Amino acid sequence: MTSESVRSYARHHASEYRRQLEELLRIPSISTLPEHAEDCERAARWLADRMTAAGLENVEVVRGRGRPLVYADWLHAEGAPTVLVYGHYDVQPVDPPELWISPPFEPEVRDGFIYARGSVDDKGQVMTMVAAADAYLQMEGRLPINVRFLIEGEEESGGEHIKRFLQTDLDRLKADFAHVADSSFFDSATPSIDTGLRGIVYAEIRVRGADHDLHSGEYGGVAPNPFISLARVIAQLRDEHGVVMIPGFYDEVKPPPETVLEDWRSLGVTEEKVARDLHVRRLIGDSDRSVLERQWALPTLDVHGMPGGFTAEGAKTVIPALASAKVSMRIVPDQTADGVWRLFEQAVRRMAPDDVEVTVKLIHGDDPVLVPEKTPEIRAAAAAVREVYGKEPVLIRTGGSIPVVGLFQERLGIPTVLLGFGLPGSNLHAPNERFSVEQFERGIETNALFWGLAATRKFRG
Ligand code: BES
Ligand code: ZN
Repeated sequence: MTSESVRSYARHHASEYRRQLEELLRIPSISTLPEHAEDCERAARWLADRMTAAGLENVEVVRGRGRPLVYADWLHAEGAPTVLVYGHYDVQPVDPPELWISPPFEPEVRDGFIYARGSVDDKGQVMTMVAAADAYLQMEGRLPINVRFLIEGEEESGGEHIKRFLQTDLDRLKADFAHVADSSFFDSATPSIDTGLRGIVYAEIRVRGADHDLHSGEYGGVAPNPFISLARVIAQLRDEHGVVMIPGFYDEVKPPPETVLEDWRSLGVTEEKVARDLHVRRLIGDSDRSVLERQWALPTLDVHGMPGGFTAEGAKTVIPALASAKVSMRIVPDQTADGVWRLFEQAVRRMAPDDVEVTVKLIHGDDPVLVPEKTPEIRAAAAAVREVYGKEPVLIRTGGSIPVVGLFQERLGIPTVLLGFGLPGSNLHAPNERFSVEQFERGIETNALFWGLAATRKFRG
């Protein structure tokens, strides 16, 4: 079977593929920070060069408003289906930098993990796909399936560019299904395929008191304090259990079928175990619902930071003129980003004290998505996982968001296979992000095998 020789080629070239990944990891392509725009450009060009060297065709760094996309294809597998391969080369900011054991953009392997920002989210996973294509093209001179790569550079910051591309470049997106590697296994002993992602509504609340900062000795006791007003608003958004108190927030939430909840219960996650893993005293949320249901199928609200005022070392006695908070809500079927944003905006307005001016701004919003589970592609992916890992993958959901997946479904009308190779404890978005070297290598093999199987009659017929 040809995929056997391709897998063996990939195994033999694993250290070369890892070296390539390390090169990409050295580029600090943080999409949300304007000062890293040039780095995003460099990462896009690096990927385009690597894809060209692999033998992919029509490679293009697609520039437009926002960070560039990278497109490439190989469309000579006559009669075979076409897969749209998606991942992102942009990464999250690194703060706080002092908590990194090795610098975020100087990849280092320790205990079988590559440590670097973007190692698992998502450069390492993107490279499992590029390497799979490379292995086929070097070994066989061809791919078993038609492939279009679309790698974006602003997944972590709203993804405006790819949303426009999905409206204007439909010709380059013709495919039978999408393959997204940007998620994680349930755990290292339990391979999994995701069937759902939460959506998100990301907002900013701004509170203005006086029109300039005031001396707190002079005006303390008479001038309103925007931070205290903001804290009051925030404190009303969730109750002491962590249940969201925005009126109507849960109205559209559709619980998963009882059989699915039962499957999740059999995964053996307990409150105590998760609390221990996270080193927290106890978990929050509705304790009548399982931990996994709370993570995957219920909506949430979190505060990410409260910019403003004085936060440097030492003391400064000021009543700041402005206070703000970054707040996001993860949303689930059948909630919509538009609907939740409206509820949030109304609720904050109602909660706002009248001694300050409170405004809310939407930063970005994306709907939740469930992917169809009984497609030939999911069966092919499951067979590939079974072959490489010797275990049947479980079907799970994830609490994170990958905005473009809903659009693949809605605009392109194609299903998505969410097959990611991260592991719990990978420190996504946090210091010391890491990707298991073994998962990187097995990921390449699994992708190669998956594409081969997805092209065969057995799975298409
Ligand atoms: N790779 C993550 C999504 C993810 C997280 C999948 C955890 C599985 C488990 C993705 O890159 C991500 O972080 N997305 C952002 C999107 C947001 C900024 C629109 C997220 O979920 O915060
Ligand atoms: Zn990601």
